[in-house]
Amino acid sequence: MKKNILEAGFLREFTRTCSNMYRLGWDERNGGNISYMLDEKEVGEYLDLSASGRIIDAGFEAPTLVGKLFLITGTGRYFKNVELDPETNTGIVRILDGGKAEILWGYAGGGRPTSEFAAHLMSHAERLAKDPAHRVIMHCHATNTVAMTYVHSLDEREFTRTLWRMATECMVVFPDGIGVLPWMVCGTNEIGRVTADKMREFRLVVWANHGIFGAGTSLDEAFGLIETVEKAAQVYISVLGTPIINTISDKQLKELADAFHLVPKAGWLDL
Ligand code: 13P
Ligand code: ZN
Repeated sequence: MKKNILEAGFLREFTRTCSNMYRLGWDERNGGNISYMLDEKEVGEYLDLSASGRIIDAGFEAPTLVGKLFLITGTGRYFKNVELDPETNTGIVRILDGGKAEILWGYAGGGRPTSEFAAHLMSHAERLAKDPAHRVIMHCHATNTVAMTYVHSLDEREFTRTLWRMATECMVVFPDGIGVLPWMVCGTNEIGRVTADKMREFRLVVWANHGIFGAGTSLDEAFGLIETVEKAAQVYISVLGTPIINTISDKQLKELADAFHLVPKAGWLDL
C-alpha cells in the first residue's frame, strides 16, 4: 500500500516554497520554475515506480542524469496555484536516454515541465559534477535583481562587488560570486547551455532583464541564495542616485571572509 503523495514532506516543502516566492512578488503569473532532484527510495514509498508513464520529448540530452527523478513545476502554471493543486501544477519525471523523459506523477490534464527544462537539467548536471549533494535549481523574477540589470554594468565581477557592499551578509552567503548573462531568448536549449556553463563556476546566475537562477543542496539553500541577492539588490535600488557616503571596503570584505573562513572569488577584491 503506497502512502499519499500529497502528504509527502518533499512535496509539501516544494509547494510551500512556491507560495513563499509568489508572496514575495518573484513569480507573477507563470513566472519562475523550480526543479528538485528526489530520492528514488523515498518516492517509491508514494509511487509505483515500475508503472510506465507518459513519455515526453525533452528536446535535449542529459546523459549523466538518466534514471534520476525530478519534481518540477509545470510550464504555464501559476506559482500562486501550486500549493492549492500540486497534481496539476507540478509533476515528477524520470529522465530517460535519447532526450526523453517519463512522467511518473502530476501534470494532470496534459501539462508538461517548465519551458526552462533545458536550463534546469543542464544546470543540475553541472552542479552535481561539482557537488554530489546538489539537489535544487530555482528560477524566478526577483524584482529588484531584475531592476538592477537595467541600471548596472552586467560585468559579473562588478555586479557581484556592488552586491557584496550592499549588505554584510552577501560575502558570507555568496563569496563565490554571481554569474551574469546578457539578455537572451528564454526557454531555449541555447540559454540552457550558457546558464549551465555559468553554473560550473557559480551557484547564482542572473539573466539580464529577466530574472535569476539559484542552485542548492536543498530548497532552503537555493531560496536563501536568491533571497540574499534580492535583499542586497533592493538596498542598491533604494540608494540609487543618492551619493554613497558610507560603504564596505574591500579590506572589510576580506576581514569578513576571513572571520567566516570563506574564500572570496579569486581576484574579485582589490586588496
Ligand atoms: P514556464 O511557465 O514555462 O516555467 O516559464 C516561466 C518562466 O519564468 C520562463 O523563463
Ligand atoms: Zn523566467
